[in-house]
Amino acid sequence: MASTTDSITVETSKTSKINSVDFSNLDFGRLFTDHMFVCDYKDGKWQNPKITPYQAMTIDPSARVFHYGQAVFEGMKAYKDEDGKTFLFRPKQNFDRINKSSERLAMPAFREDYFFEGLEALLKLDKDWIKPGVGNSLYLRPFVIATEPAISASPAEEYRFMIICSPAKSYYNSPVRVLIAEQYSRSADGGVGFAKAAGNYAAQFYPTSLAQKDGFQQVIWTDANTHKYLEEAGTMNVFFRVNDKLITAPISDRILDGVTRKSIIQLASDLGITCEVRQITVEEIKTAAREGHLKEVFGVGTAAVVSPVSAFQHADELFELAEVEDSYGKLFKQTLLNIQHNLSEDVHGWRHEVK
Ligand code: COI
Repeated sequence: MASTTDSITVETSKTSKINSVDFSNLDFGRLFTDHMFVCDYKDGKWQNPKITPYQAMTIDPSARVFHYGQAVFEGMKAYKDEDGKTFLFRPKQNFDRINKSSERLAMPAFREDYFFEGLEALLKLDKDWIKPGVGNSLYLRPFVIATEPAISASPAEEYRFMIICSPAKSYYNSPVRVLIAEQYSRSADGGVGFAKAAGNYAAQFYPTSLAQKDGFQQVIWTDANTHKYLEEAGTMNVFFRVNDKLITAPISDRILDGVTRKSIIQLASDLGITCEVRQITVEEIKTAAREGHLKEVFGVGTAAVVSPVSAFQHADELFELAEVEDSYGKLFKQTLLNIQHNLSEDVHGWRHEVK
């Protein structure tokens, strides 16, 4: 049945897939909820948004997204507390970032009112897909693609903004083993590394698959010029704990300005943990590991939350990291999840209730 909210046309699904879903056994990003949000850009403006049943769609084979990769995305999560209230975490950060990403790929900025109305309407319709309990969430994937049917190598004049939703548990089920990049690069100065551009992820798949053959789940990327500085892990920003001090790389045009990253920097300050935001050399981390000062390495991101690194390798030298009792990674993960699930005070106003 079609109805209209303030600005969104809503067509609800006649049936729901929810009863066929085993919520205790979810493979990240494989199942999607009953509805999706769609808004097309045409004639120089965003047209009326729609929510429709989740379904496949037809796009012309000449659409520029297929040829030139004009595509950006976001990763966000919705959480439910024990009283059934739904929350987003710092959603304005995702809105701002998708528009920054779009700008870099010569795509039009999305409208803030449509973004928030779309999310809220979608989450109300698919609210039963958000399960309460720490560790459960609904992963939200806003994305924009160039749909104009034309293959000249220039920015499109037509786009589609969408949001799809997938029930999620954690992205990594166990600590990750990572390889530090020596040859391949994820991004370069003046490039698109800071953007959540689809191509940034595609470019990592081949070197990551080589690392996976050697038993590493992820690559920690280093700077493209010298491979001396540690940057990010592609699906996560990375923190190193040397003795009781945390270190993470500064954001730049090569590194994603992660929402979880900036939240952890703030939480570290709240908890009285020193966190240095500065360039980190591979050598200093290897030396710290050899001397027993490297206590923890962990990756952080929306999908990954906080994922401990159990081993890293560089130049054929493998370092295993033993679990520490007073883990900062665990502390940040718990503190963050408590805020996200409305189990603790939200002093920074990060929770956004969906009413
Ligand atoms: C996220 O954490 O939302 C990400 O973008 C990682 C994703 C590529 C799985």
